[in-house]
Amino acid sequence: MKRVFSGFQPTGELHIGNYLGAMVNYIALGEQLGQNAIFCIVDYHAPTNPAAYDKDLLAQRTFEAALVNIAAGLDPNKVILFVQSHVAEHTELAWIFATQTPYGDLTRMTQFKDKAAKLVSVPAGLLMYPVLMAADILLYKADTVPVGEDQTQHLELTREIARRWNQTYGETFPEPQVYLNPHAPRVPGIDGKAKMSKSVGNTIGLLEDEESIWAKIRTMPDDPARIRLSDPGDPERSVVFKFLQYFAPPELVQVLQEEYRRRGIGTLVVKQILMQEMMKTLRPIRERAAELKAKPEQVLDALEDGATKARRIAQATMEEVREKFGLLRPKRQQTPLDLRAALR
Ligand code: ADP
Ligand code: TRP
Repeated sequence: MKRVFSGFQPTGELHIGNYLGAMVNYIALGEQLGQNAIFCIVDYHAPTNPAAYDKDLLAQRTFEAALVNIAAGLDPNKVILFVQSHVAEHTELAWIFATQTPYGDLTRMTQFKDKAAKLVSVPAGLLMYPVLMAADILLYKADTVPVGEDQTQHLELTREIARRWNQTYGETFPEPQVYLNPHAPRVPGIDGKAKMSKSVGNTIGLLEDEESIWAKIRTMPDDPARIRLSDPGDPERSVVFKFLQYFAPPELVQVLQEEYRRRGIGTLVVKQILMQEMMKTLRPIRERAAELKAKPEQVLDALEDGATKARRIAQATMEEVREKFGLLRPKRQQTPLDLRAALR
């Protein structure tokens, strides 16, 4: 693992699915790799879904997405954290890749099919979304991409784009691998059914207030076969236990599972413990976020610094890409000899 890249959309409140599936790995990889861990708030991805995009909220949400990641423990002084639209090379490389990617590769993406099915008018950008994502990653020649399981198909396409490019234009890009959190590759929603997702409305927000979180935990479904306290419970069938495993130490989970099986405790007690354990993670994040909100310039400075560092890498890759792709370079970037060769 030499260089890590990941992106997250500024499309609303980040939730514990984002945290467990992706952000936990951002933080750990950032500690390990420093400036070779690059994280990007992908604001140009957001408008591809008209249902989630609002021009009056985009800037605010972009800022908040950065803030929440920093509050959760991502250290912008160690890693590179920046906003996609601040580094123009992302969209430039995406265009070049778009010209080289078969239309059929894009129409078969399951996320495209799911999202397009819900729209009356499908923006071309929604189809191009995975091409922009490939450009995000390959611009930094990243080999490792921490994401949730839902992104694996997009990563396959990224590898395909890199492979095809390398074959045609010469070895340029690594074929990046997905990096999942083995404990939480796909966090379910609070109803235990679909994947936790902003678009479904089944989330627990990272900054959500405690009363509102408790209201959600209190009404979480239990093992459907356990109706009375005297019925034996199966923790494997209980969403409450699923979430408990994410937040509580394994020894505590084991004791509660045994008690639950032998009818020693009811679900309400398990829910109360889940709430307590979850708050041990979320409360400090909420507190740090409140501190950061009081000094927004600190976040904005970090993003500016991040963009400067990202741009340096992006520009070097783009020089190589433009050259290999066969574009006429501007006069000032050419030696007279190159120019003669280009015009021959
Ligand atoms: P959403 O699906 O809520 O719109 P994003 O697409 O912005 O979230 O996801 C940001 C990151 O969080 C991605 O790496 C994504 O794979 C990950 N992620 C999102 N939801 C989950 C989940 N329920 N479980 C695990 N990882 C998730
Ligand atoms: N498609 C990702 C998501 O919905 C976001 C994303 C955009 C991304 N560009 C990326 C993730 C590059 C990893 C690497 O969550």
